[in-house]
Amino acid sequence: MVVLSALQLGIESSSTCQGRAACFNIAVVIDQASAEQTSTRNESLTAERYRVFADVDALDLSPVYAELARRAADDPELLEIIDELPAMQRQVTFVFALARYLGAPFHQFEAFRDWVLEHRELVLETAVGRTMQTNDPSRLAPILPLLAQIRKPIALLEVGASAGLCLYPDRYSFKYGDHPAIHPADGPSPVVIECAVSDHFPAPPELPQIVWRAGIDLNPVDVRNPDDVAWLRALIWPDNERRSRTLDAAIELVAGETPMLVKGDLNDALPALIRQVPPEATLVIFHSAVLGYVEYEEVETFVNTVLALPCVWIASELDDVIPGIDSQAYGSDTAHEFSFVVAVDGVPVARSHPHGAWVAWDGDERPAHP
Ligand SMILES: C[S@@+](CC[C@H](N)C(=O)[O-])C[C@H]1O[C@@H](n2cnc3c(N)ncnc32)[C@H](O)[C@@H]1O
Repeated sequence: MVVLSALQLGIESSSTCQGRAACFNIAVVIDQASAEQTSTRNESLTAERYRVFADVDALDLSPVYAELARRAADDPELLEIIDELPAMQRQVTFVFALARYLGAPFHQFEAFRDWVLEHRELVLETAVGRTMQTNDPSRLAPILPLLAQIRKPIALLEVGASAGLCLYPDRYSFKYGDHPAIHPADGPSPVVIECAVSDHFPAPPELPQIVWRAGIDLNPVDVRNPDDVAWLRALIWPDNERRSRTLDAAIELVAGETPMLVKGDLNDALPALIRQVPPEATLVIFHSAVLGYVEYEEVETFVNTVLALPCVWIASELDDVIPGIDSQAYGSDTAHEFSFVVAVDGVPVARSHPHGAWVAWDGDERPAHP
């Protein structure tokens, strides 16, 4: 990275950490080999993943999903249906989103279970070709302060952009803890991103200037397509009004834009897009909740590519997903709630709530949040 390093941005680097990606529900990605194992083995792995999800990932974030997952882990008939899905689709949040997308009741386990058993074929058929595409504009909360420190026009390139809702940080309003709200130049935005912050949070004075933006995704989502929108809504965890409100407002705003979303793999599509970046702009390549879905060798290729480019690289991902980032030593994630590590040019700078509800800067304790 040559144009702006973490130090040029005035960001403290951290060198010691220890990470914990293992509990995340995309453990299914890490351990894809299990797909080939016997069904008995798969059943127990699936049950275990659902228990971990209930006890760790969803514990504080979604009591509704925690309860469904806890009960599902003990239900052989439900597990049997889940194990009929390809390994990548057994992820708890994928299965629950799929059922909700199809109309399953989900506030009470028995009703949910009966519905899924009754609609087994529909669930399995609808899963074909569908992927985790959660697009959460609140994930910009830990990224915006880094963009705001770049005092030049920015060319913003997101890999794993889904519907492109995170490509519009200059069009949203941000409210960080007790700091004054920051709004777009033309006034408050209908999309308001709220985030609890720690003591050393570098409150951005204003929004960044974005002069060019583009996204890459294996399967871009179109916010003008009602079915795509229904899938995006189903992917938002159910008991979080804030996330749903923000998503709906961002969908409406982005539906009036024409985000440049390129269909393709992040490594394959990157070179052609980079050639389109205006020469006067600082290229920022960023991603959140993406690299855990990518094969490790492909992640290595991507990291080597971005480190060799004249750009700023901002990553917001689970611990242990990115080679070379010793995220576990950075605000070791020992609490129940799982979190992302935010890094600039491979240097951790913050830890954040996986859906942007809080950000703990520079090794601070994580702040309390609603
Ligand atoms: C969980 S979503 C996160 C979306 C968005 N970054 C956010 O935080 O709201 C992951 C996205 O990464 C995309 N993705 C996964 N592997 C990819 C790859 N190899 N190349 C490009 N996109 C990929 C998926 O299609 C999906 O839209």
